[in-house]
Amino acid sequence: MNWLGRLGLSRSPARVAPVGFGHTACLAAIHESAFARPWGAEDFEAFLIDPAVRLDGLFFGRDPDPSGFVLSRRVLDEAEILSVALHRTKRGRGHSRILMTHHLQALGYAGIRTVHLEVEEGNDPALALYGRLGFEPCGNRPGYYARPDGSRASAISMTLALSPSGRQPAS
Ligand SMILES: CC(C)(COP(=O)(O)OP(=O)(O)OC[C@H]1O[C@@H](n2cnc3c(N)ncnc32)[C@H](O)[C@@H]1OP(=O)(O)O)[C@@H](O)C(=O)NCCC(=O)NCCS
Repeated sequence: MNWLGRLGLSRSPARVAPVGFGHTACLAAIHESAFARPWGAEDFEAFLIDPAVRLDGLFFGRDPDPSGFVLSRRVLDEAEILSVALHRTKRGRGHSRILMTHHLQALGYAGIRTVHLEVEEGNDPALALYGRLGFEPCGNRPGYYARPDGSRASAISMTLALSPSGRQPAS
């Protein structure tokens, strides 16, 4: 940790902010770089007009375009993380934790008590990220994901209980 960190003054270059219709092409490009079945800009437009959906972007410096996003949909006091992804150049440096922590806090403040998600077996960065945030495995769906090579992979279902304060368990 540098001297700013020791004083509690360190500043991450990353910030979390809402995304809008001007970002949908960028969001689609990030999604395409991360998943075998990409969502298009029109899919993100549909999410943006869905009042049950929360979509947060991860921004760096003065870049007007997000380098990552997380998207969830709520039903009553539960929410499901539908997708989270970072641009390839931003992965592996802990940035997703900032994004997810902000998003989960916002969900907690909005009254969400339980968060669900599914992750492909073998996606070690995602499993590590979710584990650190306090998600716990609660089920397994064999063969749920189709891989580009034609094979199938299991989905691991995970869940997280949020406190009313918006805080999630410390990692
Ligand atoms: C999943 C994803 C969002 C994680 O974001 P990230 O900022 O790169 O993740 P981090 O750098 O915070 O790493 C998360 C954890 O995984 C670990 N990790 C990173 N790469 C790893 C690897 N190849 N194998 C095992 N663990 C790994 C990190 O050490 C970290 O664990 P730690 O907190 O215990 O140190 C990002 O990799 C991504 O966009 N992937 C493609 C899309 C995707 O798979 N989304 C999830 C769908 S469920």
